[in-house]
Amino acid sequence: MWNSITLCSLCKFSPSSTSLLFSRTPILHHVLQRKYKDLCKDKKTAQILRNQFCQVTKRTCNVLPRCLVSNKAKYRRYTKTYPVLDGHIPIVYQHVFEENLRNSEAVIQRYSELLERVSKGGGENAIMRHTQRNKKLFVRERLKMLLDDESFLELSPLAGLSMPYGDVPAAGCVTGIGKICGVWCVFMANDATVKGGTIYPIGVKKQLRAQEIAMQNRLLSVYLVDSGGAFLPLQSELFPDKSDGGRVFYNEAIMSAMKIPQVAVVCGSCVAGGAYVPTMAEETVIVDKIGTLFLAGPPLVKAATGENVSPEDLGGARLHSKVSGCSDHFASSEKEAYECVRNIISTLNYEPLPEEVVEYDDPLYSSDELLGLAPRGYNYTLPVKLILSRLIDGSRFQEFKADYGTTLVTGFGHVEGHLVGIVASNGELSHDASLKGSHFIQLCGQRSIPILFFQNTAPHAAQPTSIAQAEAHANRLKAQASMMAAVACAAVPKITIVIGGCYGSESYIMCGRSFSPNFLFLWPNARVALVDSRHFFTITKAEDNDCKGDESELNHLKAKLEEESSAFYSSARLWDDGVILPQNTRKVVSQCLEIIKQQKYQFISSCQYPVIRM
Ligand code: COA
Repeated sequence: MWNSITLCSLCKFSPSSTSLLFSRTPILHHVLQRKYKDLCKDKKTAQILRNQFCQVTKRTCNVLPRCLVSNKAKYRRYTKTYPVLDGHIPIVYQHVFEENLRNSEAVIQRYSELLERVSKGGGENAIMRHTQRNKKLFVRERLKMLLDDESFLELSPLAGLSMPYGDVPAAGCVTGIGKICGVWCVFMANDATVKGGTIYPIGVKKQLRAQEIAMQNRLLSVYLVDSGGAFLPLQSELFPDKSDGGRVFYNEAIMSAMKIPQVAVVCGSCVAGGAYVPTMAEETVIVDKIGTLFLAGPPLVKAATGENVSPEDLGGARLHSKVSGCSDHFASSEKEAYECVRNIISTLNYEPLPEEVVEYDDPLYSSDELLGLAPRGYNYTLPVKLILSRLIDGSRFQEFKADYGTTLVTGFGHVEGHLVGIVASNGELSHDASLKGSHFIQLCGQRSIPILFFQNTAPHAAQPTSIAQAEAHANRLKAQASMMAAVACAAVPKITIVIGGCYGSESYIMCGRSFSPNFLFLWPNARVALVDSRHFFTITKAEDNDCKGDESELNHLKAKLEEESSAFYSSARLWDDGVILPQNTRKVVSQCLEIIKQQKYQFISSCQYPVIRM
């Protein structure tokens, strides 16, 4: 349903002129039917009207949604009444703020350097070889050509950096979520400039995570395949365990049975195991000259049979389109292949998200100040409401149990118009805080409201020094277990942002990776470890008085633990979905909520069988 404010803004009337509005609704009908020419006598006026409409609805592609819904009035009514958080930073916090700011600037500098390294794939020479000699587009150009617009949420770009087996930029496979024909899709695109697009163990993990996101959020998947198959020197880590390479193909069948469509483009080599990705996809496009698909390439044929055969004759685009049936569409160029993908997606009968013209308020405080609030260590943590006041619409927050269990902050707010339940660490997760958390999470489950966790857990629990304290600890453990159960079983979308520490068992309770949040991102200052290495150092010294100990060994251990606790170390290993800048958090969270919302508009049948290639 359209409400009057949306109608007014579309037809350029003031919201007060509702009487005028109703006499103009046929105009709107024509606009919705895209009958611009019926409305306007000449082509130029039609174009102006069309452009204005696109501007109002902020659309960037040509496809109009089938139904347009606006909940602007509803949104206004509720959000404007929430109390406003006081986000002023008291002068006594100035010193901590500045320390945090210095740390944030240093880690962000490092983050930018790493991103820059990743954006070059396998390096300039490899890109030259790929584009000039092999006449293929660089993976990021391919994505640009395929996507509706710039709104691409890249997942784990730092995955694969500084692995024990070397640097594998972006794990050799760019993954992310973007829109085609107005529909959010998950992309998995091999980067052949990184060792011929071969699959490393971290590459398998990255593809499996992308498929998991597709399944959890019911997102259709697009594979751009350009890969030499398994990276053979690491074959024992790629085959044959449950979460090794074969799981990607298994998931393709399961996803198809779940009615999650999958489309593949063979835009390079698909050798050995890699050949199953397009063959298992529901529809596959192959690009002439550059796309090949075979279980064993020409060198292996030569070794086995002595026969010389060209890649094209062994498994090129014509062969697979005309003879084998491994591909369903022949494209004479990459451009044509991506147009074909758009056409395929328009046949999927997928309902794009309704376009909503939601007006929301920005937070009252600058997001740049988040850099001074992002704690460089647990001891540098400032009240979390200072952070919330810079992230939620109008800094308005309907707090739940404000005066109880105050080391956890819970309540409702909006992020770019999306209603969320917020659970934010504000100290050690005490007995009362855990009970409050359990209660609040159940409320969100009951009301089907997505939960947003802001995690900053304590690096160590204080040791009990008396029986009474030990009893209190046991009670706290029980309360924490209840919150853990509530988090695990809440049947609503969950997004976790690690804003500081992700330490020990409290990180599970705050919806860490093992509690399967739909998305988990880290701020660059985040620390991820069982215990804080700085604390570990003092314990070891204090508890080891007798042992003179080799100090340099301890220092070495400390340096190792510190490095292994950094956000970049975590992201390289795919313990999260990526590092995000604090000042971009609102944008990323809002995008995730929109992506999650898409499944609300899908018709889901009880089909149990995948599409089987014939
Ligand atoms: N395992 C390990 N390394 C591999 C590899 C594999 N399966 N396939 C390619 N590489 C390496 C190459 O040794 C080369 O390394 P270098 O840059 O250090 O010299 C790099 O990847 C690029 O390969 P190159 O052959 O120079 O690039 P290309 O663009 O001309 O061809 C392929 C790419 C994938 C078509 C080609 O390398 C190939 O056919 N590889 C073998 C594929 C295969 O048989 N896989 C079976 C896996 S089960």
